Amino acid sequence: MTTNGITELPWGGHGMSDLEKAARMIIENQPAIALTGAGISAESGIPTFRGKDGLWNRFRPEDLATPEAFNRDPRRVWEWYKYRIELVMKAKPNPGHTALVELEKMGLLRCVITQNVDNLHREAGQKCLVELHGNIRWARCTRCGFRVFWEKPPEEVPPRCPRCGGLLRPDVVWFGEPLPPNALEEAYRLAEEARLILVVGTSGVVMPAGLIPFIVKEAGGVVIEVNVEYSQVTRIADVFLRGRAGEVLPRLVDTVRGLLDK
Ligand code: OAD
Repeated sequence: MTTNGITELPWGGHGMSDLEKAARMIIENQPAIALTGAGISAESGIPTFRGKDGLWNRFRPEDLATPEAFNRDPRRVWEWYKYRIELVMKAKPNPGHTALVELEKMGLLRCVITQNVDNLHREAGQKCLVELHGNIRWARCTRCGFRVFWEKPPEEVPPRCPRCGGLLRPDVVWFGEPLPPNALEEAYRLAEEARLILVVGTSGVVMPAGLIPFIVKEAGGVVIEVNVEYSQVTRIADVFLRGRAGEVLPRLVDTVRGLLDK
């Protein structure tokens, strides 16, 4: 079945041809980068933001993920982040994360740009990683800027700075805040230089991260998407691989290997 020029195959059942097409594109279009979102960590047990079981269906972002919410009630915001730190610390990278590490090791993936704050790409062993929205395992002092890495979740909330006693905040990007400038610059540079982008598990609705696939496309690059559903990116995807990242990505890497071994 074809919709908008995209070959659509049943859940979990795209034939070899789509995978092979994507695999060939990866081999032929270097350097390649990846943009990932919450969907790649879903199979590690971390909820996504949108959709039926999404966090933003159960919680209001304006109560929990804005500077105003934090100024109003830091304890409440920290309780939510403590819960999420606990969730993330229990989670392990899944075969989707590992497949991207494999591609990097094979010299076929220059860097992963992620919107995720869960640290799982790094735990999987990804060497080149740009974290556009920060990292939930880190906190920073609102007074002196000192950064703290949580080896275990904070006991007391809101936690205090071990250096100056100031209030710590999660080192993540909240709604209404700019992205870390270095990360954003690096992401734009990678996108401008990339000949291919693998977009995995993101709705593509949050800007400026959602612009990255469009930068690659406009410069003449190839867009491959892996998602269980259509997203804002699907209409510019050259190949849409419908399915779970933890299943599709390992098959994609196997297909790349198979072609290289021929
Ligand atoms: P979303 O929750 O908006 O989208 C998750 C995407 O993953 C959807 O397109 C799903 O269809 C897809 N998906 C779900 N399970 C999947 C699976 N197993 N395999 C592949 N795809 C799957 O999450 P993001 O796009 O990451 O920002 O959201 C972007 C930003 O919005 C987040 O970084 C966060 C949030 O507000 C901040 O906190 C600043």
